[in-house]
Amino acid sequence: MERARILRELALQIEGELDRGILCWPEPEWNEAVRRFLTPPAQPAAPHRPAPSSGPAAFARRRPPAAEPTGTARRRPPAAETAPRAPKKQPTFPPPPEATGRAPDWEKQLAALKREAEACTRCQLHETRTNVVFNSGTGTVPLVFISEAPGANEDAQAEAFVGRAGQLLTKIIAAIGIDRKDVYICNVLKCRPPQNRNPLPVEIETCSPYLFKQLEILKPRVICTLGLFATQLLLESKAPIGKLRGRVFRYHDTPLLPTYHPAALLRNPGLKRTVWEDVQLLRKLLDEGMAAVAKDVVAAETPARRPQVASRDLFGAQ
Ligand code: URA
Repeated sequence: MERARILRELALQIEGELDRGILCWPEPEWNEAVRRFLTPPAQPAAPHRPAPSSGPAAFARRRPPAAEPTGTARRRPPAAETAPRAPKKQPTFPPPPEATGRAPDWEKQLAALKREAEACTRCQLHETRTNVVFNSGTGTVPLVFISEAPGANEDAQAEAFVGRAGQLLTKIIAAIGIDRKDVYICNVLKCRPPQNRNPLPVEIETCSPYLFKQLEILKPRVICTLGLFATQLLLESKAPIGKLRGRVFRYHDTPLLPTYHPAALLRNPGLKRTVWEDVQLLRKLLDEGMAAVAKDVVAAETPARRPQVASRDLFGAQ
């Protein structure tokens, strides 16, 4: 009896965490096991709770709708505990700002650069690639996401972030009220490293001029680097991603916010809340520019927002 009560309370606790997007288990399989435990087997009609379109829970894999229990082991908790919760208030966003300052023929310039990359043989990766992966998205919204290098799916489809990490990135972008097809997503390397190994320094050096040129043409209002390689390259830093993420830097004059790579969230779903917070700040930067962080700095002098890379960060420049 005591055991059943403890299990029920534990289940409710875990369910609450899953709802808030805090998936703290190190293995995705454990989350599945928890979900199975929380989802009794029978199928009578049950109220459908729509998945949130934003908030950290929006990144979480969808849980099947709750069903009525049939067995004795999983007794339904008292009505007060299962009453439908009031819908959580999700942030809503205005339409994102438009790009400014681009050349009238910016799309043609990008297309020409893409053709150049598609013929590139400057490093050994051209020998093993199926396709050059130049980008994904139109870039009409002046927000650019930069990651590491294409994987197998991207190499096969010639488009950045189309695999599992890409599906998660789509949700991350949707959580700030933007359709991923409207932003610009690209990588430091345009060709897949064999077996998805880390990019070599020589490959980064050879390929990065394409990225720098993409940024020059796109003139983004904000850049978000995903993971270590893009962040370290653009910030000329050797610091670990955990020290750089969530802080606002400048790349030339453009605000740059590093966050974790979506693949890191797939391995460790506990990072979802952190990334959710990072992208809320990203959206503020897109809407308000550097004013978004100037307020934070004045209001709170938050050590966590104090940059560590002197030359290109928000405060080091002052
Ligand atoms: N991971 C990356 O870094 N880039 C992609 O395009 C896909 C997965």
